[in-house]
Amino acid sequence: MDLFTVKPGYESTAVSECSEAGYFNCVSGKGFIRTDGLLNQSFSGACFSSWRIENCQSIPLNSCGNRVKRTADWFCDAIRLSKIVNPWSISWLRFSENGFVPDSSNVTKLLELLKKRISRIVKLADVSYPAANRGSDGLFIVDCSPDELFVSRSAVFYGPRRMKDDSAAPSRSYLKVEEAFSVMRYQPGEGEVVVDLGAAPGGWSYAAAKRGAKVFAIDNGPMKNGAAGNSLITHIRADAFRWLPQRPVDWLLCDMVEEPFRVINLVRMWIRKKMCTNVVVNLKCGHAEPYDILKIVRSPDGFAPLVRECICRHLYHDRDEFTVMLRV
Ligand SMILES: C[S@@+](CC[C@H](N)C(=O)[O-])C[C@H]1O[C@@H](n2cnc3c(N)ncnc32)[C@H](O)[C@@H]1O
Repeated sequence: MDLFTVKPGYESTAVSECSEAGYFNCVSGKGFIRTDGLLNQSFSGACFSSWRIENCQSIPLNSCGNRVKRTADWFCDAIRLSKIVNPWSISWLRFSENGFVPDSSNVTKLLELLKKRISRIVKLADVSYPAANRGSDGLFIVDCSPDELFVSRSAVFYGPRRMKDDSAAPSRSYLKVEEAFSVMRYQPGEGEVVVDLGAAPGGWSYAAAKRGAKVFAIDNGPMKNGAAGNSLITHIRADAFRWLPQRPVDWLLCDMVEEPFRVINLVRMWIRKKMCTNVVVNLKCGHAEPYDILKIVRSPDGFAPLVRECICRHLYHDRDEFTVMLRV
């Protein structure tokens, strides 16, 4: 059984995405979906999921069951025949209102307990997030109900994670673009040129300027806080559907509150005219079914044929929206 963690409210969207990708018997729980496996071999990565926990096993607990001790017992038994000589990941995921998040306190307790039994192996434990978008070996626990735990030796982390705020950032949206740069493992560099469509009050522009990029911020609304009067940010009051730069730019950022299919067409036009090299675009779902928007994004009418990399993620800091990151 594989288990995908999902933001609460998006379970049925994740079931649609995984079923269409070839996962069978997808069943949703609160903040996760379970599936019996994948029919075809390749799955490029889930948009509406943060983690895929692979080949999970269930540990049933009675009311006084000690979760940490039961997990330690399971792990010692599971690695009995393995030779562990490389660093391994450990994550304990607990439910929160924004989905499953790492629980460092249970990891600490678990490692303390394991140290007494397998101290050499515990020294190789890595408690940081595993590298995104590839399989990791170790110990992964999904703490999803009082009477059951799911445990596994392998997982894929898709990248969504809580970011650190900045007191000079003009908006909460700042966290979304910071998270997008982290998921892409790529970001604007010093001296690069960035266009930010729908920029006000300036969180995304501020994030790019912080990295030394020169930003054209397009919005009729005002810039605020760290984006107001910033020497690297040129604020242009214009309609983003009509404005184009005089020459190609390194980055197109777009967080406009506009109809998603209109925004997709606008970004496609920028790419077809070779006006940008990298894109971060946030698509607001509004009344549209999120999975219908995702299908368009990944279809020939979206970005797939026009770019060399297209990552779609429902970020930790996204709400009723998701973010698309493109390398053209
Ligand atoms: C969610 S806010 C952007 C927040 C911004 N990314 C930040 O980090 O502060 C959406 C913005 O899109 C702008 N917007 C919507 N339609 C637009 C259009 N056609 N042209 C320019 N801006 C537009 C709105 O004025 C609003 O400021």
